[in-house]
Order: sequence, then structure tokens, then C-alpha cells
Amino acid sequence: MAQVSDHYDGSAPSYHEQYDPEKIWTNEEYPANYFRLNKVIRILKDREVSSVYELGAAEASPIIRIAKDLNVDVRASDLSPEMVRLGRENLERNGMDPELLTQVDINDRDAVRAEADRVGQFDAVIALGVIPHVEDDAWFVEAMSMFLKPGGTLILQFRNSMFAMFTFNRLTKELILDDLLANVGPEFKDAVEKDLDQRLAVDKPPKREWDKDAPAYDEILARFHNPFELADVVKAQGFEDLSFGWYNFHPTYPMIAGGIDPTEYRRQQIELEDDESWRGMFLCSAGMIIATKK
Ligand SMILES: C[S@@+](CC[C@H](N)C(=O)[O-])C[C@H]1O[C@@H](n2cnc3c(N)ncnc32)[C@H](O)[C@@H]1O
Repeated sequence: MAQVSDHYDGSAPSYHEQYDPEKIWTNEEYPANYFRLNKVIRILKDREVSSVYELGAAEASPIIRIAKDLNVDVRASDLSPEMVRLGRENLERNGMDPELLTQVDINDRDAVRAEADRVGQFDAVIALGVIPHVEDDAWFVEAMSMFLKPGGTLILQFRNSMFAMFTFNRLTKELILDDLLANVGPEFKDAVEKDLDQRLAVDKPPKREWDKDAPAYDEILARFHNPFELADVVKAQGFEDLSFGWYNFHPTYPMIAGGIDPTEYRRQQIELEDDESWRGMFLCSAGMIIATKK
């Protein structure tokens, strides 16, 4: 498996483009993270936070927008040296202190503790697009908690495994056999597997190729999470009042999206981003857990 930091070093120079409001309609990749950031800003505003720490902050585009839109104190860190280098330039260009962004690997427990001691605690801690790349969920949430004041807000993004219930492909097969039927005997599972191989497009999804000169997203550790299981991890780390926020809506399952007019498809995707109902758990490929530290 390729190194996570190599992938993000490669995508650092163009990373800001997904946050450019003028590119919402023209970006080839659906700018899901743009809509995620809007939702995060709304949550932080509703909770009237005055300081935010971001773990895995990339080249600082999101945290700069948070600082400017909400007029709050911010600090952040990231694993990728190239993200940090460009992020510091980005902060400086925006009239902010480049030292607000530091290089920290969340897997390096001593480095995380040292960073938490150095910067103190915040009203909110966010980690968007980062837990997919880390093995130990309990440690990840513990690390987030270190930067958070009691009563503070955690916003933890994850890739939503439940979306596989709407994709009718290899991911659906894996979810049914490995998770849903986890406690069912092998003879039943074998029968289901044979049947699913007929019903589902098990040859899909294809590998995504975002970066030609760096490892693609599918070549690095990029885990999905079951929202219920991840919520249990968050609760066990001393959080309460949990809720889910969903984004990256799919108006059709991805394998038939290519047959629909791309502008109409995107228009429908964007409209759905306002849906705050239960549907997001199945129509969205990503979600966030929002919780309060006890
Ligand atoms: C999908 S990007 C998200 C960036 C940003 N949070 C955003 O909302 O756009 C994931 C980021 O997490 C960082 N990352 C991945 N593994 C990490 C780790 N072990 N420690 C710290 N950062 C990590 C990557 O370098 C990358 O910049």
C-alpha cells in the first residue's frame, strides 16, 4: 500500500481548487468538500465557538475560510510536508501567521501530545477527510479530545459504509457479507454470495485516478466507517449529544450517473445537499459526527 503523505504531497498544489466557489460547476470531480465546509461553518457558527483546531488541515484552505468567515482563532496541523509548506504560504498570503500550521502525524502519539501541550484547548476540533487514513479509531478520537475544552464541539468526518446499500456493486456485496451477515453461518453466506454475484455489478467501482505522478486515493489506506460503530467509539471517548451530518449526495447510484446530463446531475446533487433527513445515511458517501465533550 502506498504512503498517505505521498498521495497528499502530490495533490497539494491543486488542492485549493475544490474550495473555489467559481469552480463548483466546472470541476470535473464533484466538489463535495466545498459543501462539507459550508455545513461545518454553519455548525460552528450556531455553537458560537471562538477557537477551532483542525487535525489534517491540508494546505489550510478550509481553516483560513473558517477564520475569516467566523472571525475565530485557529490552529492546525497536517502530515504532508508539501501541504504544510503550501499551507504556510497560503496563511501568509491571507495576512495570517504561517506558524499556525504545523507538521504532525496523528499516528505519532508523542508528537500529538506535544502539540496539544503546546497549543492548549479549543472550543471546537475538526478532522475532515482524515480518519479514513488512520488505523486506530479510538486513538484518533482521543487525540481530537486532547485539543478540546470540556463542553467543546467535535466534528469528525468519515467515509460512509452505509452508502454501499445504494451502490449495488462490489461494495454492496462486501457490506452484506462482511457486516450485515457477520453472525450468519457459512452455508447461508455462500448462498447469498452466489446470488449477489448475479444481481450486483461486482466488477465496479473502478479505481479512481486523481493524480498521475503520485499514488491514487485507492492505493492508500482510505477506510470506510459504519456510522453506528464510529458513534460508539466517540461516545466511549467521553462525548455526548451525538448527531450525524451528511454530504456528497448521490441522486442515482454512481454506475448509472454517466447516462445523465452532467449539469442536471450536478444541479440535483447540489439541491440534495440541503436534505437533513435520514436519507443522507444511504444517499451520501460521506458523513460527519457532531458531538459535545462531557
Ligand atoms: C482529504 S484531506 C482533507 C484536508 C482538509 N481537512 C479538508 O477538509 O479539506 C486529508 C488530509 O489529512 C492529512 N492526513 C492524512 N493522514 C494523516 C495523519 N496520519 N496525520 C495528520 N494528517 C494526516 C493529509 O495529509 C491530508 O492533507
